[in-house]
Amino acid sequence: MNILLTGGAGYIGSHTAIALAESGHSVFAADNFSNSSPEAIRRVSELSGQRISCFDMDIRNTPMLADILLRKEIQCVIHFAGYKAVGESLTKPLLYYDNNIATTVSLLAAMEEAGVSRLIFSSSASVYGEDAPSPISEEAGIGGCTNPYSRTKAICEQIIQDAAASSPVGLQAVLLRYFNPIGAHPSGMIGENPHGIPNNLMPYITQVAAGILPELTIFGGDYDTPDGTCLRDFIHVMDLAEAHAQAVEYLSRAASSNTDVPTVVPINIGTGTPYSVLDVVKTFSDVNGFPIPYHIGARRDGDIPALYADVSRAEQLLHWHATRSLADMCRDAWTWQRKNPEGYWLR
Ligand code: UD1
Repeated sequence: MNILLTGGAGYIGSHTAIALAESGHSVFAADNFSNSSPEAIRRVSELSGQRISCFDMDIRNTPMLADILLRKEIQCVIHFAGYKAVGESLTKPLLYYDNNIATTVSLLAAMEEAGVSRLIFSSSASVYGEDAPSPISEEAGIGGCTNPYSRTKAICEQIIQDAAASSPVGLQAVLLRYFNPIGAHPSGMIGENPHGIPNNLMPYITQVAAGILPELTIFGGDYDTPDGTCLRDFIHVMDLAEAHAQAVEYLSRAASSNTDVPTVVPINIGTGTPYSVLDVVKTFSDVNGFPIPYHIGARRDGDIPALYADVSRAEQLLHWHATRSLADMCRDAWTWQRKNPEGYWLR
């Protein structure tokens, strides 16, 4: 199948491109490289043995997007493009609303124009908000988000629901709610490439490991959890990538099914197993064979004590579950950092 990845040069997009190519799909990417590098596409092409065409464009350019969908005979779109830094979204909310929401509206309009009816949307577990009890299932309500980034994801989910309900092309969508993707392709050729000082746990740890940052601060050691640090559902980015390939299959089955299937389905993508921040630090040290200096500091505003997935729907609908361990995530994250101390070359 011909599949277009918006934001295909990004962290999750690039890993998904490999999983899709390995499943026999023809992959196309569209990216404006505002927070990614063309080098990622080059390396994906090298790793997958498939020359990935990447259109350097803004997804808000609806006519250009519709033209690409038609010319490349795209049958399914995976929408990754968007800003994702929680902290930045608090200081620049309008940037986030403009970019994340306008790209989604533009994409839906282009898909209508070009008659493309299958969409997979890159959503986030943070749509569940701060009062979410874990393990959390998709039946839980969304909202109560703690920041504009998460709100853009919740709003886009709603926009997709509304577009599907009135769609002239019979839009079918899967909303993949990611928990905490970490790690990298085991080759160490592609990985997460944050600009500046990382906000998220794993890139911070790998930069401490590389000696770029002196020490990790663990945000809070007095939570009501087994070791006092927060619990999260960390998932290997290659497991997450493979879930997208399974979502493509799900949409194909839905299109040929005689029975009524819901037009828009949210699905949690996690392992279902919570690990604490300290578990990650200790596993990273054990697997890679050296200590990570850390101290326990104050809690970070907006963090919730525990967030992990009920993954039964992913198993049931996608016939998928995560297979890689926390040790795999820690080893592969370090391989990427070690081989690419400065990330991708900047454009
Ligand atoms: C955040 C976003 C989530 C997004 C994810 C990207 C929210 C509320 N969360 O999740 O939507 O998908 O990033 O991976 O919008 N920690 C430290 N020290 C650090 C960095 C983090 O102790 O230097 C701790 C945090 O307090 C937290 C855990 O590590 O308990 C994970 O943090 P992080 O990697 O930033 O992810 P989340 O905040 O869970």
